[in-house]
Amino acid sequence: MHLRQRRLMQPAFHRDRISGFGNLMVGYADRMRNSWTDGVTLDVSREMNRLTLSIVGKTLFDVDVDQQAAAVGEALTAVMESFWMMMLPFSELLERLPVPKLRRARMARARLDAIIYGMIADRRASGRDHGDLLSMLLTAQDEDEGGGMTDQQVRDEAMTIFLAGHETTANALMWMWYLLSSAPDVEAKLHAEVDRVLQGRLPGLGDLASLQYVERVVTEAMRLYPPAWIIGRRAIEDYALGDYVAPARSILVMSPYLMQRDPRFYTDPGRFDPDRWTPEFRAALPKFAYFPFGGGPRQCIGESFAWMELILLTATISQQWRLRLVPGHPVVPQPLITLRAKHGMRMTVEKR
Ligand code: HEM
Repeated sequence: MHLRQRRLMQPAFHRDRISGFGNLMVGYADRMRNSWTDGVTLDVSREMNRLTLSIVGKTLFDVDVDQQAAAVGEALTAVMESFWMMMLPFSELLERLPVPKLRRARMARARLDAIIYGMIADRRASGRDHGDLLSMLLTAQDEDEGGGMTDQQVRDEAMTIFLAGHETTANALMWMWYLLSSAPDVEAKLHAEVDRVLQGRLPGLGDLASLQYVERVVTEAMRLYPPAWIIGRRAIEDYALGDYVAPARSILVMSPYLMQRDPRFYTDPGRFDPDRWTPEFRAALPKFAYFPFGGGPRQCIGESFAWMELILLTATISQQWRLRLVPGHPVVPQPLITLRAKHGMRMTVEKR
């Protein structure tokens, strides 16, 4: 089932299609940077989520979700807060109990459902092929009635992308701004590259290859704070791992967060050091010493999309702004499905 759905989605993420999204991404980032006022304090977590939500909504579903961003954010938080309970055995049973957190999560899911079903209904009503992912999902359903996707499956796929496609990217950006704020030397190099490559104009797809330091900064930020900090699987049957056999139904957990801070692979692992990412270092690194996008058959389908988005947004915003952590703001990682910041990320924006 997974493979079939994956094949169906794949064309939507093809490099040629994604490359058309570059200007759109930059456009949204430009709009956001123009809405900021010098010296103002913002929750950068919220700002980045707003930005990436608008982008995924527009590029993949061709809708403007600006107005719904707050509702989606709240609903998502409620779903995520019930994450630990859902990992427990008998979670399906638990979910039906009147536990307040779970009840909130159920209601939140219903709100998210309403938003996604709304998008599907709008699209059906317009009857136009937008050439985006949602159109593809709906066409696949229409052409293949017997074994095609049900309404609920379209909803599930759309929901997966909608959620997987914005929270992770926003999260990566938030931690990157935080790291930059306490590393003025790195920030200075970043600004120098952005200014030299762009010469004051907005970035485009053609600049990606030249923005190498930006890419290193993003890479290093996701090493220290991988948005998907754990990846879990349940063993369907007994599963042998070297000498150890994980019994059927065990939950196996792999952690990019742990691996990417392992001194066997990274010298001075706690240090934010984008310069470590030389081509030689990269080539010598064992395969799963760096895996913020997972691996295997379920590896992130949006990885190219994400890299392009991360680099373009970072370049656009840092071209005009410097973000500074508000002194005394408690930065506490909160490991939910993604690695969030418990108290958000309060930062002051300073015009460069
Ligand atoms: C920094 C940004 C991102 C990170 C760190 C990230 C990370 C991941 C990881 C680790 C997985 C695998 C989960 C597993 O193995 O259980 C995954 C899957 C997935 N990601 Fe991403 N992702 C990012 C951005 C995106 C974007 C932008 C999209 C879509 C526009 C996206 C769509 C998906 C989808 C649909 C899957 C499920 C693939 C499948 O099951 O076949 N992701 N992501």
